[in-house]
Amino acid sequence: MPERPAIILDCDPGHDDAIAMVVAARHTELVGITTVAGNAPLARTTRNALIIRDLLGIDAPVHQGSARPLLLEAHAAPEVHGATGLDGADLPEPSGPPASTDAVAFLVDTCRAREGLWLVPTGPLTNIALALRQAPDLRRRIAGISLMGGGTFGNWSPVAEFNVWADPHAAAIVFDAGAPLMMCGLDLTHRFQATAERIDRIRSAPGRLAAVLADLLDFFSAAYIGRHHHMEGAAVHDPCAVLAVTHPALFESEERHVAVETTGQLTRGMTVIDRRDLRSVPPPNCRVMTSIDADAGFDVIVEAIRTRSAAGAPADAEVVR
Ligand code: RIB
Ligand code: CA
Repeated sequence: MPERPAIILDCDPGHDDAIAMVVAARHTELVGITTVAGNAPLARTTRNALIIRDLLGIDAPVHQGSARPLLLEAHAAPEVHGATGLDGADLPEPSGPPASTDAVAFLVDTCRAREGLWLVPTGPLTNIALALRQAPDLRRRIAGISLMGGGTFGNWSPVAEFNVWADPHAAAIVFDAGAPLMMCGLDLTHRFQATAERIDRIRSAPGRLAAVLADLLDFFSAAYIGRHHHMEGAAVHDPCAVLAVTHPALFESEERHVAVETTGQLTRGMTVIDRRDLRSVPPPNCRVMTSIDADAGFDVIVEAIRTRSAAGAPADAEVVR
C-alpha cells in the first residue's frame, strides 16, 4: 500500500463512521466523502458527515448520495445510533451544505480522472453499486474496494449484517463486480470494541474533537451493552475498513468466494462465504479479513484522535443543545 493511500469514504454517519473518518483524515489522502441513507435517513447522515468533517478541520468535499436502496425500502437504526444517527454529544451546526447531491457522479468522475483510488464504503452499498453499474470501467481503474459489511453471522437478522441487509441488491452488484475487494465483517469487528478503558484514553486527549468522540462512543457503547449479553463496548466496525487499507499488517485474512443472498425471506442480505476445502469451489472474489490486532488498532485510532483534536476544530462552530 502507498504511504498515504487516496480514498473516497462512502458512509452513513453513524458513530463508527465518524471514527472511520478520523482515521481516514489522519492516514489517507481523503479525496472526498459520499453519504448514503443507512443508520439514519440521508439528510441526517449527510448533516452528520458535514459536522464531523468540520470538527476534523479538513476540507474534504461531502457529496450527498442515495436516499434509499436500489429496490427495497430504507430502514434506519435509531435503536443503535439514536434519532439523529449521531446521538450522544453536543454538536455544532454544519458549516454549509454538501458540495453536491450527486455522489454517484462524484464517484464516477473522480475515479475516471484519477486511477488508483480506494473506495471505502462503511454503509449500505447503494452509491457504489450505482457507480459500478454506470461505469463498469471503474473496477479496473480503482485500487480496490474495502468495505465494512457481512460476516458469518448477522446483527440485523440472525444471518445478515445491517449494511448488506439494507441493500442486498447493491451488495450483490459490488461482490460480483470483479473489482479488488476486501471485506471487514462482523466476525472481525465484534472483536474491536470501544471498552470503557479505550474511551477513557480518547477522553484524556486535549481538544473538542476528543471530547465529542468520547461522548459519542459512550452513547454507542451504552446501546451495545444494553442490547448484548456479553459485549464490553460498541463494536467499532467502520474504521476497520479504513485500517485494512492503511495498516494491513494489523490483519489476518483469507481469499474466499463471497456471494450475497437477495431473495431469501429469512436470509436476505446474508453473505455466503465459501470456506469449503474443495477444488470445485468458485474462485475467490474477496479478501475476507478474519482477525485484527485490536490493541494496536485502537492505538492507531487514539493517536489519530489526539493528533486531529490537538489541531483544533474551527473556533466559530457554535454548539447546539
Ligand atoms: O452493521 C454495522 C454497520 O452498520 C456499521 O457500518 C454501522 O455504522 C452501520 O452502518
Ligand atoms: Ca456505517
